[in-house]
Amino acid sequence: MTPAIAPDQVEADGGSFQGAVRRMFDGLAPRYDSFNRWASLGMDEGWRRAAIARLAVAPGGRVLDVATGTGDLAFASERAGGHVVGCDFAAAMVRIAADKAGETDSTAAFQVASADALPYRSGSYAGAVSAFAMRNVRPILKPVLSEILRVLQPGGRVVILEFTEPTVAPVRWGHYLYTRVLVPRIGGLLTGDREPFDYLNRSIDAWFSPDEFAAMLSECGFADVGYRRLSLGTVALHWATRPSA
Ligand SMILES: C[S@@+](CC[C@H](N)C(=O)[O-])C[C@H]1O[C@@H](n2cnc3c(N)ncnc32)[C@H](O)[C@@H]1O
Repeated sequence: MTPAIAPDQVEADGGSFQGAVRRMFDGLAPRYDSFNRWASLGMDEGWRRAAIARLAVAPGGRVLDVATGTGDLAFASERAGGHVVGCDFAAAMVRIAADKAGETDSTAAFQVASADALPYRSGSYAGAVSAFAMRNVRPILKPVLSEILRVLQPGGRVVILEFTEPTVAPVRWGHYLYTRVLVPRIGGLLTGDREPFDYLNRSIDAWFSPDEFAAMLSECGFADVGYRRLSLGTVALHWATRPSA
């Protein structure tokens, strides 16, 4: 069910990038969690823990996981004491998140919703998180950031994880070999379709530097904007706050 044409190629053809992203993740959904584990060499859990630690919402605070996928960041946030809602526009991803919640004692709620039209009241969340989704909303990034700002309470924080290019040359070369050569080859062999893995790399290439994305958060009205790099600079952890006044 994975599309033969990747989102950026559809866009180049004048089609809907977001429509192609949704179809791609609906197709990937059953394999998504196992892909995440092996491709990140198990580091994805640590990245989520770092994001939740930075969010630091008080126990019982309402947290929104934007583009939640199969819900792992939402569950990490719930374990830290948040009351969590996760939303994503790919219904197959949301179904897996909801199934995982049903198999445990999780009270996290999962809904199908697009990040540029969040179906939540303004100021209704103490915190928001989003992992590895921003590259996939690149053409509608500012509306998405504005929506996150809107649903946060004044003083509420957003924490965002996204891939980035390592700055230290030998790390960059090793990372290049792993992500550009090994991951697409192994992924292609395991799934019979290497296009989603190639799209992952092209979407990282088309993404902003951490400084550029931080500037964009400021432009959209966020305050106290900052970031740090994780895992030898392969991932950027961004944070920003809705101003109090
Ligand atoms: C790489 S996955 C990340 C999923 C999850 N956050 C994680 O860390 O595993 C990107 C997710 O973004 C979602 N997505 C992309 N564009 C979206 C949009 N406009 N609204 C809601 N979800 C979107 C996709 O459906 C997909 O589940």
